[in-house]
Amino acid sequence: MRFAILSFLFYCVLVRAQLSVVDQYVATESPIAKAGVLANIGPSGSKSTGAKAGLDIASPSASNPNYLFTWTRDSALVFKTIIDRFTRGEDGTLRTSIDQYIAAQASLQQVSNPSGSVSTGGLGEAKFNIDDGPALRATALVTYANWLVDNSNTSFVTSNIWPVLKLDLDYVSIYWNQTGSFFTTAVQHRALREGAALASKIGQTAAVSAYHAQADNILCFLQSYWNPSGSFITSNTGGGRSGKDANSALASIHTFDPAAGCDAATFQPCSDKALASLKVYVDSFRSIYGINSGIASNAAVATGRYPEDVYFNGNPWYLTTAAVAEHLYDALIVWTQRSSLTVTSTSLAFFRQFLPSVTAGTYTSSTPTFITLTSAVRTFADGFLAINAKHTPANGGLAEQFDRNNGSPLSAVDLTWSYASALTAFAAREGIVPASWGAQGLVVPSVCNKNVGPTVQVTFNVVATTQFGENIFLTGSLDALQSWSPDNALALSATNYPTWSVTVTLPASTNFDYKYIRKFNGVVTWESDPNNSQSTPVTGSSTINDTWR
Ligand SMILES: *[C@@H]1O[C@H](CO)[C@@H](O)[C@H](O)[C@H]1NC(C)=O
Ligand SMILES: *[C@@H]1O[C@H](CO)[C@@H](O)[C@H](O)[C@H]1NC(C)=O
Ligand SMILES: *[C@@H]1O[C@H](CO)[C@@H](O)[C@H](O)[C@H]1NC(C)=O
Ligand SMILES: *[C@@H]1O[C@H](CO)[C@@H](O)[C@H](O)[C@H]1NC(C)=O
Repeated sequence: MRFAILSFLFYCVLVRAQLSVVDQYVATESPIAKAGVLANIGPSGSKSTGAKAGLDIASPSASNPNYLFTWTRDSALVFKTIIDRFTRGEDGTLRTSIDQYIAAQASLQQVSNPSGSVSTGGLGEAKFNIDDGPALRATALVTYANWLVDNSNTSFVTSNIWPVLKLDLDYVSIYWNQTGSFFTTAVQHRALREGAALASKIGQTAAVSAYHAQADNILCFLQSYWNPSGSFITSNTGGGRSGKDANSALASIHTFDPAAGCDAATFQPCSDKALASLKVYVDSFRSIYGINSGIASNAAVATGRYPEDVYFNGNPWYLTTAAVAEHLYDALIVWTQRSSLTVTSTSLAFFRQFLPSVTAGTYTSSTPTFITLTSAVRTFADGFLAINAKHTPANGGLAEQFDRNNGSPLSAVDLTWSYASALTAFAAREGIVPASWGAQGLVVPSVCNKNVGPTVQVTFNVVATTQFGENIFLTGSLDALQSWSPDNALALSATNYPTWSVTVTLPASTNFDYKYIRKFNGVVTWESDPNNSQSTPVTGSSTINDTWR
């Protein structure tokens, strides 16, 4: 008995010590992180000399790695943090930078780049614009636009923000299919929902139903990332990767809508699927990083982008470790607001880390189960910030990564996103609730409509002499070319004989193979090998001139 009491007291001391480490970290790191974000923003940031007004650099690191770029994705996430702080009334001086950001993005959108110009899909170019860039920028802009509308400045929204926003939302509507990342799909869905709501508020009615229609399709597609047998959200499986990815935690925190409760359709932070996935993701780093060894299997560990990462030999990142903490704080916000918490068969393994005897069910705030679980989850969440605290150098600088074996900072110094991630995790820990974006009560359509993306017109001409009654057809590797079926092959017209022609609608920017065939008295003759190969243009139309082989 005495031993039990002693060890309980010892446990309390430990927990208190950890809490005070985190309280201390939040107090000292907050001002450093705020300053760290602003230092990387032009024109007057102390570490971003030469950057244009309203542009932020990813990091002041000029070599190994060179991050002196403005990345649409990183900028949008950073400016979302700044806009949230401004609209919460924390710092009115941020408005100048926000207005400069909008002006800078308006001109960046018009820059031609290897993906094409603004009208041909160029908004998606990596570095300038990664796939998720337009959606995240839209979310940042909508947040500011809503504040302006609420503050009787709709005219600025209509004249200066809507034109930039509309390009991003139209881009998302057309190109959302061209992604393999859960995070990208989730933030695209959010952007279209809140874009539609803003459009309706400012009288841009034509956009409203178009954006909601694509958002429904995206919500349907979003469900396909869930892996029921592994109990995790699968993201980025290319190159032999397992799909366990920080992506899932980042998606839940960047699409957190407290009004949606613990809805699993949008993978809210407290949803059973998001919690189950978080456990699988966190556990994937327990045995691979030296600095995680010896840590209890239900305590916080350092996490990275994904377990198979080899960038700088694969290390924990500050922003992913902070994202796990934020995910858990967001869940706590909703459980506290609703005075109840539900354990399902899907989230059972997550909750059993903290209470091995717990069973599926709903627990109200007066039950010992609720009290035990919420307090354990808070301790668990604080543990992730305590890990970042432990590996933050004395000057508070946050690099991109810290070494998997000795914990010392690595890769780019003063990563803007690292600072932003600290600020959003701290805000969630304080219980600061973000604005709702319209995730409440959404219903996943029972049939997923596909989005084939942008299409182009391709005219096939083939010179082929034929005998009377013989006809020329086309088939190939795309659905629109009847997937190599001789029976369903497309008939060509002989109006310009001996040139046979057909014009087909095909997906843009797509490689494909095809052959012409002859049909005569029921006998099919294929062109000789090899297959013909072509690719479709980014936009518009093209003509392919062939001669029968
Ligand atoms: C509306 O907001 C813009 C951007 O911050 C500002 O320049 C303008 O002065 C505001 N107009 C009014 C009437 O408040
Ligand atoms: C994406 O487009 C391709 C054709 O380009 C189509 O086969 C696929 O089903 C589409 N996926 C979704 C989710 O719309
Ligand atoms: C042409 O494409 C078809 C369908 O993919 C394939 O079965 C066939 O082997 C290809 N022919 C050559 C010569 O590569
Ligand atoms: C195909 O042939 C047409 C008519 O002969 C010609 O106008 C066109 O330039 C040709 N296109 C290509 C891509 O060779």
